[in-house]
Amino acid sequence: MQRLDHVFILTGAGISAESGLGTFRDVGGIWAAFDPMTLATPEAFARDPDTVQAFYDARRRNLLAAEPNPAHHALARLEAGLAARGGRLTLVTQNIDDLHERAGHREVLHMHGALLEARCVACEAVTEVRSDLSTADACGACGRTGVLRPNVVWFGEIPFHLDEIEERLMAADLFVAIGTSGAVYPAAGLVGAARRAGIATREINLEPSDTAHLFDAADYGRASETVPRWVEDVLGPDAPSQERSAPPHRTRSSTET
Ligand code: APR
Repeated sequence: MQRLDHVFILTGAGISAESGLGTFRDVGGIWAAFDPMTLATPEAFARDPDTVQAFYDARRRNLLAAEPNPAHHALARLEAGLAARGGRLTLVTQNIDDLHERAGHREVLHMHGALLEARCVACEAVTEVRSDLSTADACGACGRTGVLRPNVVWFGEIPFHLDEIEERLMAADLFVAIGTSGAVYPAAGLVGAARRAGIATREINLEPSDTAHLFDAADYGRASETVPRWVEDVLGPDAPSQERSAPPHRTRSSTET
């Protein structure tokens, strides 16, 4: 197996599916039950904030009752294992859950934001939120009410950390997409950018994604089985297998650079 100094991983909803969090485009997925245009756009929030907040409140309650699965823990082991060898793992997720962090991952770039964060539309302050969010809540920074929204990226908005993502990808030896359908850009375009830069690519998913033809290699199956197996292949059998304790909650999702 080629020596890996810098692995770049992009995760999607499929890595959290076995933790009980819904995916979007599978049969029975979130967008089969809800219309994203009425719940996940700035226009929807302006038109009917209470309905949008209630949608994210339900997902936040579901998240707080969920646990990381073996795939999340395996990626945290990979981050530690690569670092122990002087290598590096860049983890970019489209997911707004904190299961990577709770599995012990030290740095996660949330390009679509974080469900456990609220952002003030008046002063842009980002605060942690672990309960229902109401338009009556006051911003902890500026004190205004009616200004707090989930700190998530809605359709029509620009994802976070795009410059850093591009820079990290160009420095990687391997690009791996895990649990994503490859349906939403700019995340879906990363595999093409990797190929153009001559970077090896691998897809790990339940089934071939929309961009499966762009990957050099693939493992198909449930992430809780395929990801630990792949990580052991990368790190070798002598790698530490214990699950790491979760670091203090810290998610790099807001507009901080
Ligand atoms: N193990 C591995 N892969 C799985 C599993 C599993 N247990 N269950 C489902 N999958 C795969 C599906 O086959 C699918 O290809 O995960 C993928 C999930 O695809 P989507 O539901 O489209 O989710 P994602 O790719 O993360 O969506 C991207 O779209 O609506 C936006 O903001 C939202 O971040 C989301 C973005």
